Amino acid sequence: MSIHKEQIKSALAYVIHTQYGKDLVTLGLIEDLIIQDKYVAFTLELPKKDDALANQLKKECTESVQKFVDKEAVLDITIGINISKQRELDGEGSEQPSQQSPPKQEPVLSGVKHVIAVASGKGGVGKSTVAANLAVALAKTGARVGLLDTDIYGPSVPTMFNVTERPNITTKKKLVPIERYGVHLVSMGFLVDTDQAMIWRGPMVTSAVKQFMQEVEWGELDYLVLDLPPGTGDIQLTIVQTVPLTGAVIVSTPQTVALDDARKGVAMFNKVNVPVLGIVENMAYFVPEDMPEKKYFIFGKHGARKLAQRLEVPFLGEVPLREQIRETSDTGTPVVEADPDSPAAQGLMEIASRVQQTLDIQDRDRSSASKIEITIRP
Ligand SMILES: Nc1ncnc2c1ncn2[C@@H]1O[C@H](COP(=O)(O)OP(=O)(O)O)[C@@H](O)[C@H]1O
Ligand SMILES: [Mg+2]
Repeated sequence: MSIHKEQIKSALAYVIHTQYGKDLVTLGLIEDLIIQDKYVAFTLELPKKDDALANQLKKECTESVQKFVDKEAVLDITIGINISKQRELDGEGSEQPSQQSPPKQEPVLSGVKHVIAVASGKGGVGKSTVAANLAVALAKTGARVGLLDTDIYGPSVPTMFNVTERPNITTKKKLVPIERYGVHLVSMGFLVDTDQAMIWRGPMVTSAVKQFMQEVEWGELDYLVLDLPPGTGDIQLTIVQTVPLTGAVIVSTPQTVALDDARKGVAMFNKVNVPVLGIVENMAYFVPEDMPEKKYFIFGKHGARKLAQRLEVPFLGEVPLREQIRETSDTGTPVVEADPDSPAAQGLMEIASRVQQTLDIQDRDRSSASKIEITIRP
């Protein structure tokens, strides 16, 4: 498999410039990256001349690329001295490192009106199922919609949308999303070998996600749905701090173990001041395909609904556990596309319309607030 630029940058994001306490990619010190088969060349722009440090960083870059990307990679690193970087970085370096304060936001996703993160405390609760169906349902309303699958350890978009091809790259070296059912799709799974990604550490994942944000030709979108990796650890926290999020949807099953983790999800978004649009109860009850009038509350009853009440966040609705939902996802057509009028799709369609209404209200409030501000000015 040929080496991709984002893999190299992700590996270099693991090398820390000790003076600034940040990695080389975040500091913007990697320039002119060229890859030809196993040959990887780039310039490492250091703010000042320091041969010992330069040699140490060169060694660490080589080790990181060989460890995480390809052990046969041949690196050709040129050291450049860029004095103008020094003031810029000294400004950054003097900041108090803090988990709470978000890093400086680059102008990412400027053509996107709303970025919606779909998160869950636990894996396997149906986060990707909800994200995929939400995206398709929003596209059905005529909105321009993108879906970014950031779950590098277990990407779902390739299967759920039956994507086997690789995305095209524009002449400006931007990645073109693949379109299915009106949704513009990008998945870590399109580009990165999942087996290789299993050994990626947190900083590599977040740097790859950041790059996806900047190097994808999203164009103008009304909604970009972000399928986050499960959990509420450092990876998720960094992603939600990097991306200009409009709001978050938390998915949970009714079980206590899932609810405990969903609560952590709500807390994470509160911490970074991202509004929680609401909680979805997935697998709310089981409906056998041959006895559609029956409901079995196998994971408990109304757990996520009650959690939403307790936390005073909106309840967005419930999705039953139905074979048709799993089957349609596994065969590449989310149920709201495959059978939009089915009882299986109904809950998902309602959730999408609640999300859309909430965002419409937010937009209206914002625009009327700015109008009032104009009228009361002398
Ligand atoms: N409501 C549901 N009914 C039936 N199967 C479901 C439902 N929600 C999710 N699944 C199935 O459960 C598995 C895990 O769901 P997924 O969306 O991949 O979870 P996550 O992204 O949280 O790990 C998938 O096989 C999916 O098709
Ligand atoms: Mg998933």
